[in-house]
Amino acid sequence: MREWTIGVIGGSGLYTIDALEDVEYLVADTPWGAPSDTLLRGRIGDVRFVFLPRHGRGHRLSPTDVNARANIHALKAAGCTDVLAISAIGSLREELPPGCFVVVDQFIDRTVHRDTSFFGAGLVAHVSMAEPVCPRLAALVADAGERAGARVARSGTYLAMEGPQFSTRAESHLYRQWGADVIGMTGMPEAKLAREAELPYALIGMVTDYDCWREDAAHVEVDTVLAQLAANAATARSLVAELAVLLPRERMPSPIDTVLNQALITHLAHMD
Ligand code: ADE
Repeated sequence: MREWTIGVIGGSGLYTIDALEDVEYLVADTPWGAPSDTLLRGRIGDVRFVFLPRHGRGHRLSPTDVNARANIHALKAAGCTDVLAISAIGSLREELPPGCFVVVDQFIDRTVHRDTSFFGAGLVAHVSMAEPVCPRLAALVADAGERAGARVARSGTYLAMEGPQFSTRAESHLYRQWGADVIGMTGMPEAKLAREAELPYALIGMVTDYDCWREDAAHVEVDTVLAQLAANAATARSLVAELAVLLPRERMPSPIDTVLNQALITHLAHMD
């Protein structure tokens, strides 16, 4: 077996990974409550994967109700070394059309009703979110997407909104002015929690719509999103299989590990 265990958080439209072999279902519980569903553990070739459908099988959980602390905790406890998140996203840029995949490298967090930290209540820590994704994992995921036949944008700023309603047109224009490239409802606080849990994290979004900023295109509706997701789910699954091929045999420390160590030192300094 290779040294990686990749946690995959599947978004809307992705509830299983059919390339997984030797699968077993794990019922997990955590101090933060139950994760979105049972974990599906298996392997593709000699790489271990642990899959978790973010909204639960049958799409039971709205973005606000996803227990991201339990999900990240459960993946860490299941032995994951890294986490790949896959999400449906809207596009705020003409050059990112529906059907294209975007490897996110920055976030703007506009969520308001979620538990965003493992810390608090007597244990204070402030991790850096300056570089919110692991550049090594993100690059491998972008390569895997291209090998799976996707059109891939290798960077992009993700605006995380609370939902469940889509944005107003004024908000959509505002987010474009802020420099956001894509919009979704689930990337935060997931990315923050992965960082706190010292799990290198990358997010690849599948563009399903142009949100509502374009005057010349229909504004986003759920049926458009679902149709695009159905069209792209197979590509997302083969992306995961390609990632298994591309991961190096040896897992060197992640480039974000130094950041994490620094966070720990800061944390310890606070305890004086
Ligand atoms: N997920 C897919 N499309 C979206 C959009 N336009 N806004 C928020 N989340 C989305």
